[in-house]
Amino acid sequence: MASSSLRVAIVGAGACGLTAIKCCLDEGITPVCFERTDHKGGLWHYTDQPFEGQACVMKSTVINTSKEMMCYSDYPIPAHFPNYMHNSQVLEYFHQYVEHFNLEQHIQYLIEVTSIKRADSFAKTGQWEICYRNHSTGKVSSELFDGVLICTGHHAEKYVPEFPGLKNFQGKVLHAHDYRVPTGYEDKKVLIIGMGNSGGDCAVELSRVAKQVLLSTRQGSWVWNRVSDNGLPVDLLGLRRPFQYLLKYFSGLLGKLSEYKINRRFNHDLYSLRPAYGIWAQHPMVNDDLPNRIISGSVRIKDNVKCFTTDGAEFVDGTRENDIDAIILATGYTFGFPFLDKKVLEVKENRMELYKLMFPPDLEKQTLAVIGCFQPLGAVMPIAEMQCRLATRVIKGTTKLPAWGEMWNDIRRREAEMAQRYVASRRHTIQVDYMVFMDELAQLVGCYPDFFCLFKRDPVFAMKVFFGPIYPYTYRLCGPGQWSGAREAILTAWDRVKTPLQTRPLPAAFNNKFSHLHQCNNGWSHDTCTESPSNSSINNCSGNRDRSVDSHNGSKITVASIDHSSISRSSNNHDSRSNSNNSYSGFKNHGNLVQVQSCI
Ligand SMILES: Cc1cc2nc3c(=O)[nH]c(=O)nc-3n(C[C@H](O)[C@H](O)[C@H](O)COP(=O)(O)OP(=O)(O)OC[C@H]3O[C@@H](n4cnc5c(N)ncnc54)[C@H](O)[C@@H]3O)c2cc1C
Ligand SMILES: NC(=O)c1ccc[n+]([C@@H]2O[C@H](COP(=O)([O-])OP(=O)(O)OC[C@H]3O[C@@H](n4cnc5c(N)ncnc54)[C@H](OP(=O)(O)O)[C@@H]3O)[C@@H](O)[C@H]2O)c1
Repeated sequence: MASSSLRVAIVGAGACGLTAIKCCLDEGITPVCFERTDHKGGLWHYTDQPFEGQACVMKSTVINTSKEMMCYSDYPIPAHFPNYMHNSQVLEYFHQYVEHFNLEQHIQYLIEVTSIKRADSFAKTGQWEICYRNHSTGKVSSELFDGVLICTGHHAEKYVPEFPGLKNFQGKVLHAHDYRVPTGYEDKKVLIIGMGNSGGDCAVELSRVAKQVLLSTRQGSWVWNRVSDNGLPVDLLGLRRPFQYLLKYFSGLLGKLSEYKINRRFNHDLYSLRPAYGIWAQHPMVNDDLPNRIISGSVRIKDNVKCFTTDGAEFVDGTRENDIDAIILATGYTFGFPFLDKKVLEVKENRMELYKLMFPPDLEKQTLAVIGCFQPLGAVMPIAEMQCRLATRVIKGTTKLPAWGEMWNDIRRREAEMAQRYVASRRHTIQVDYMVFMDELAQLVGCYPDFFCLFKRDPVFAMKVFFGPIYPYTYRLCGPGQWSGAREAILTAWDRVKTPLQTRPLPAAFNNKFSHLHQCNNGWSHDTCTESPSNSSINNCSGNRDRSVDSHNGSKITVASIDHSSISRSSNNHDSRSNSNNSYSGFKNHGNLVQVQSCI
């Protein structure tokens, strides 16, 4: 429940807008979220029909960031959800988040924000005048707000490059933005242009029904696997502090090692994929199926298109393909904020100048922030949430941003680092590394994990936090927004990773190192978890089901060792169970009882 008199407008109710509402409530600010469609979840809300200017996944899209690394930091994803979720499950998780934190009442649907400009009193009050149109009634209104969080996404406006001869092509031409299902492409010859994640996903899906898929790339691409060593999600292995420090300080060496490892799976020279740049110089393309589709001949890699003919294309390497039925332009997106006063922020060729990719540095009052306009090596959601934690505190005045000159230096430093590391492309203008960016933001918020304190008080746990995956919960262990369930969420994360995989008992003789499952009368249950000193358990057996928290498709959801009823998740209540002074609380399971245990 908001308690201050501040009112903040949130534009958009996608993954970023939803957490913006929650963070406002945590800071006692009244959020008013305007969403132009009739639904929440943004691009994760699948629609059969494409809408101009509205981002959307395709029907089969599976997220490429794993569940423990992409959740909001105080709301783990249910244990039985797969590690890489189908888009419908991503949306389901967002719906649960909204329900759990009671966010729905703050969203106004079918309201489109049409203009945002500084109020006349801005220099004194920091207020914004927001104009919006109600799509149900047609009514246009305007209101003053104390702050604005812009959460409108950056995958809505198609980027369609000029290709010689494209207008003469007689077949079907569409952008990946408008592609939904493979129906209609059976036995067709399809050319896909662009080798980002959209190009890869379209190619793999269409190759199962089409006669031939051609995937054209002007630079090539490194292709990562979702499923890494031991079948674990790749981000659970890569997003760890030691690895991230290596990436920061020895990226050349780490790049060579990573290329070697990736090439051992399938050689990028052999498959005509190797780009002229190193593996860390591009936004990662993650696609487990592509090499299978290439080796089976259903996808053929082609050079860049030189020009189109009426029924085909000529490529830069001099080859030619005829009888092409359809062209899919998977050439990415253009972003901008057309409703925002250009004097406040202008975006040119996907370039913008914002402190921490959020704050226009020249404003007299820092009461406006852009949320989620970055492209991470990692998941968007926890970083956007951290941006919201920062923005709400800045709007409230509890956190001060650095001086004007320092903000500009930071912007220039980021630009220079990006230019040095990434191959020049309009898709590489807002890149961030998960740990580095999260740490930068967390330091401003004051919730950077206090490793010194952790090592002193609980070295075993501290080792897990430092050397293990950098779960979003890590940033709830201390400081403002501390969550009393964070420690337990970290300790039980592996349970939630394993639960959807350990679905069949193996013979005891195999000594399955991953399994802590045993069969009980009514199904499968986790026994003790060796990774968790709290000896916590998930139990699906009836009569011992103390952790069922929600329903999904009619079945009960158990969230491994996270007792949602015990851990207070209501807004403004993060610290209700924790000691002051950067302490954290753990939960110990005693039979069916879950007790709060102070670890300090
Ligand atoms: C195909 C695809 C797959 C992706 N996969 C991943 C992934 O694996 N992992 C990951 O972390 N990220 C992924 N992303 C990135 C994605 O951007 C984020 O996951 C996340 O959805 C961004 O949320 P958002 O709220 O910023 O934007 P969106 O989800 O686009 O939501 C923006 C919302 O703002 C509303 N809106 C826009 N303008 C206005 C206005 N003027 N007035 C009112 N409302 C407005 C829109 O209707 C929409 O609901 C993917 C992106 C795409 C396109
Ligand atoms: N399953 C998933 O989770 C999933 C699926 C789809 C998308 N996504 C995400 O959605 C975002 C958008 O991805 P995207 O693939 O749509 O766009 P993208 O990452 O911007 O990739 C666009 C591709 O088009 C190429 N291209 C652009 N202009 C071109 C031109 N004139 N000629 C030839 N090629 C050109 C680019 O090549 P250059 O590199 O040479 O510029 C690049 O390969 C990304 O964050 C991505 O990770 C995720």
